[in-house]
Amino acid sequence: MGLKNLYEKRYSVRSFQPKQVEQETIIRILEKARLAPSAVNFQPWKIYIVTQGETRAKINRAYPKKWFENAPVVAVFTGLEGQNWKRQDGKDYLMCDVTILTDYFVLAATEEGLGTCYVGAFDAEIVTEALKLKDEDPILMVPFGYVSEDSKFKEKKRKSVNEIAVWL
Ligand SMILES: Cc1cc2nc3c(=O)[nH]c(=O)nc-3n(C[C@H](O)[C@H](O)[C@H](O)COP(=O)(O)O)c2cc1C
Repeated sequence: MGLKNLYEKRYSVRSFQPKQVEQETIIRILEKARLAPSAVNFQPWKIYIVTQGETRAKINRAYPKKWFENAPVVAVFTGLEGQNWKRQDGKDYLMCDVTILTDYFVLAATEEGLGTCYVGAFDAEIVTEALKLKDEDPILMVPFGYVSEDSKFKEKKRKSVNEIAVWL
């Protein structure tokens, strides 16, 4: 799938087949995600791949929704505090770096024919405890897997180019 199609085809999938995602597929996705750029190339991030077991049960409690629990895999994207670039005025770019990483991951997963959903509305304390994080900020979670047949693509409601672009 070309990039143009990836932009058009990706949507938030909240219904997955129970089938597990093969480890080789996840590694191919990670190999693309790691190419993401970051400020000063500091790469202040980690990606936790959580499938089953006690850790997964704890992660599910951080975002207690049935569709999330049913996702075969959850990737948790964390930022390494104190290892990122800050602007001259102190503005912190950790979230920015980790978001770009997450985007690379999501597009690579889409290219593999998988469904993904960005999740930000989780309980960060529970995730921190579940993953035993120290000096790491859990920024986004992405549940992913093979898309269930009942999952429907939704027409994209987006601002037009005229609304967002400012030509000066
Ligand atoms: C930073 C971020 C956080 C999000 N958090 C959640 C979330 O916690 N739960 C959820 O169901 N969807 C979440 N979403 C998905 C958005 O609701 C969704 O991307 C948006 O409505 C556009 O729909 P689309 O992804 O299908 O194009 C999040 C998306 C982004 C980019």
